[in-house]
Amino acid sequence: MGKPQASGHDILQWSELLARHSEPAWAERGQLTVTYLTPAHIHTARELTALMQASGFDEVSTDAVGNVVGMYRGSQPEARTLLTGSHYDTVRNGGKYDGRLGILVPVACVRNLSNAGRRLPFNIEVVGFAEEEGQRFRATFLGSGALTGAFDPQWLDQQDADGVTMREAMQQAGLPAEWSAIAALRREPSRYQGFVEVHIEQGPVLCEGKLPLGVVTSINAGVRCTCRIVGLAGHAGTTPMRMRQDALLAAAEISLMAEQRALDDADSVATVGQMQVPGGSINVIPGECLFTLDMRAPTNAQRDALVNDISARAHAIAARRQVSFEWTEVMRASAAPSDPSWQARWARAVTAIGQPVYALNSGAGHDAMMLHTIMPQAMLFVRGGNRGISHNPLETITADDATLATQAFAALLDDIEARP
Ligand code: GLV
Ligand code: MN
Ligand code: MN
Repeated sequence: MGKPQASGHDILQWSELLARHSEPAWAERGQLTVTYLTPAHIHTARELTALMQASGFDEVSTDAVGNVVGMYRGSQPEARTLLTGSHYDTVRNGGKYDGRLGILVPVACVRNLSNAGRRLPFNIEVVGFAEEEGQRFRATFLGSGALTGAFDPQWLDQQDADGVTMREAMQQAGLPAEWSAIAALRREPSRYQGFVEVHIEQGPVLCEGKLPLGVVTSINAGVRCTCRIVGLAGHAGTTPMRMRQDALLAAAEISLMAEQRALDDADSVATVGQMQVPGGSINVIPGECLFTLDMRAPTNAQRDALVNDISARAHAIAARRQVSFEWTEVMRASAAPSDPSWQARWARAVTAIGQPVYALNSGAGHDAMMLHTIMPQAMLFVRGGNRGISHNPLETITADDATLATQAFAALLDDIEARP
């Protein structure tokens, strides 16, 4: 009797194995937080490595930015490789499937191929990207950006909230921490057929439509900024309201303005995800306020108009309130329309397993946005339960949907074999 097929149950079980590794302060509360190169992150990478090794990959390695890379060789190793994968880092108190599903689905498929002793006429390279969420440093897409040449060497000098530089974090993790090793990760596009990524939808569309899978048409463009307002700290009891230069209230007004500006566009979004008053006290007017802005829209032009308007209006608010306003752009990613021929491959794969083809846009950012800059890409979304909630521990998928994703991925591999 042959070995049983890896299925959605295995994927859920593997997700639980990975989710055992969380940063201590969060783990104590039963929450999942895995940010770049923390011990929890390194343990997750080891778990993925062991899983890939046990699944029949020919080579498994960790590269200079911490990506876990598994190669399943084809019968014609000189043929162009299919690249796939997603990220294994998480947001703070995140879900178990954001990113990880897109590693585990291809791992399940490779396991099935290996168990059947089957080689495809092309290599499959599965990458667990080390960082996509932009949590620890003021930089993001560290994993996929290294493959596309988007990793900025200046990032190595960035410090985390505890003053640890990225270079030091890499050294502590046993990585080479040298720019030459990172630069060498850049992939030569002519060696690849394209990039495909499976991801939980992270929104309500598939759940509400009772659809297990969705074929992505395009990924929204985004810009992220860190902002600093400096006003004047002063006595909360004695300073008349009209004589204040309150940094926090300026940030609050800018946040509400950004919300309204995004609402005016309908499909633009703007989010202030973090806000701090460093060294603030209950009886002191905030003299400084730090906050973040994340702004996204379906096209680069719409995103740029959103960002430019919010910037101009924020400066006007700051001037009226007599506070200074600085913003530093920390991420800019272009909209990434799916490659039509790869989108069609996903559609045929979904049809081949007897499921309806539903096309939808991605509001979330993905590693595919980076790979988009050097090769054709297209994504498959998998329905999330709980109305698709994500960046939240309530994020969930069913084993049946994970099985369907695995079957769709296998059908995509067949499609590539049949129509190279
Ligand atoms: C990644 O999850 C993002 O879209 O922010
Ligand atoms: Mn995410
Ligand atoms: Mn993700």
